[in-house]
This record gives sequence, C-alpha cells and structure tokens, in this order.
Amino acid sequence: MQFDLFSLFPEVFTSYLQTSILQRAIEREFVQIHLHNIRDWTTDKHHVTDDEPYGGGGGMVMKPEPIFAAVEGILGLHPGAPPPCPVILLTPQGRVFTQAVAQELSAHPRLALICGRYEGFDERVRTGLVTDEISIGDYVLTGGELPALILVDAITRLLPGVLGDPDGAADDSHAMGLLEYPHYTRPPEFRGMAVPHILRSGDHGKIARWRREQALLRTLHRRPEMLTTAPLTPADHKFLSKYNDRK
Ligand SMILES: C[S@@+](CC[C@H](N)C(=O)[O-])C[C@H]1O[C@@H](n2cnc3c(N)ncnc32)[C@H](O)[C@@H]1O
Repeated sequence: MQFDLFSLFPEVFTSYLQTSILQRAIEREFVQIHLHNIRDWTTDKHHVTDDEPYGGGGGMVMKPEPIFAAVEGILGLHPGAPPPCPVILLTPQGRVFTQAVAQELSAHPRLALICGRYEGFDERVRTGLVTDEISIGDYVLTGGELPALILVDAITRLLPGVLGDPDGAADDSHAMGLLEYPHYTRPPEFRGMAVPHILRSGDHGKIARWRREQALLRTLHRRPEMLTTAPLTPADHKFLSKYNDRK
C-alpha cells in the first residue's frame, strides 16, 4: 500500500515512521510512504503557501494553487479528472475516524492525505480536489500531521503481514465491536495482585470464554452503547443478562 502525505512540515513524520512496527512495515515493503512538501509546488519567488482570509478575520488560509499542483503532479492527474485513489483532507470537520473507517481505507492500494495548518484550507481545495474528509475527533490541533500519522498507523497495522501475529488485530478493542479483554504477563504475582488462575490453566477453551466474557464486561461497564451494535452470540446475551438484571 502506498501513502502520499502532503504537508508544509514533512519532517514531522520522520521520527515516528522510523520506529518499531511502522519502520519494519516500510523496510519489508508492506507500505511505501512518500512525503511531499506542499511548498515545493509554489511558483512565486517567496514560496508563499498561505494568505489572509477574504472578508477579514484573524489567521491565515492555505492557498489552493500549491495544493492542487502538488496533488495533481504527484498523482499524475489532469485538472478536473477523477483521482486514481482517495484524496483525503484531514480536517476537524470531516467524518470521524474509527476502526471501521481504518478497515475501509485499508482496502485501497494507495491513499493521498493532505495536512492543513493555520486556519485550514481555501474552500476550493475541499470542493475541487478532495474525495473524502476525515477528522480524528472533536477537538482542534495546530496541524494535520498528527491526524495523518494516526491514519497511517491504524491502517498499516491492519495490512496482512504487518503484525507478527496474523490474528493480532482481530481481538483489538473496536475490531469486533467490543473493548478488548485484559492482558497479563509475568510475574504471576506482583505487589499482591495475582494473574487470574484461568490464564495459567492451559485450558484454551476456558481461556477463550473467559476473555470473551471479560471483553463483554469491559464494554458493558465502559462503553455500554457499543453493545447495541456489537455482533453478539446467544451465549454472550445469556452472560450479559446476568449483569443487566442487576442494574
Ligand atoms: C487549526 S486547524 C484549522 C481548524 C479550522 N479553522 C476549523 O475550525 O475547522 C489546522 C489544521 O489542523 C488539522 N486538524 C486540526 N484538528 C484536526 C482534527 N480533529 N482532525 C483532523 N485534522 C485536524 C487540519 O488539517 C486543519 O486544517
């Protein structure tokens, strides 16, 4: 899969992409990540990428010309032609990024992500260039680079082969509509807190059931609204009814 990241500060990405699982995914060519500096696509002497807003008010607005030139140049796109891959604007006004959206986007062989700064983009970038708009949540950051990294990270770990354990992402929180069960590792006892006996029993059937029940309980206590859409089995409903009855 290929990511094309368009930013005024592409150096921001480097250290995170050179760490741990993402670094390995790049080295093993599960993903190619191409960083593009929008400033390189300016044509004026001072390489200007932002300007004052029409109508007045504070802050600066990212100009459309270098963004269109960068994206069209990199994607080999004729002006007005449909892009060969999703062109995603990172914006707090977009649809909210979830595990389901990560799953959906992971099916594409290529994604272009455009990071904003300042007051954001000239509206014509939204209406004339992008195909999707994504927010990472209901808060405002100074730039779209962290949101873009969040998309790259969440999507990359879903690609086949990236995680050492092929089922590694299947039980993750939100992957199957539930929060994940608790994890333990050695030592078996720490400061008076013992690892649940069942996890050391070697009985894989019982361990699987215990984990499922813990995931159900966690979700019930922390995010009960998720249970209304989670795919639950009759055994799950029976288990949960014990707790619902006690409310
Ligand atoms: C200060 S923000 C601009 C916010 C804009 N004035 C608004 O109210 O919608 C600058 C840039 O950061 C990025 N950004 C900030 N918060 C974000 C969020 N929650 N999700 C995605 N991108 C975000 C966007 O690329 C945005 O253009």
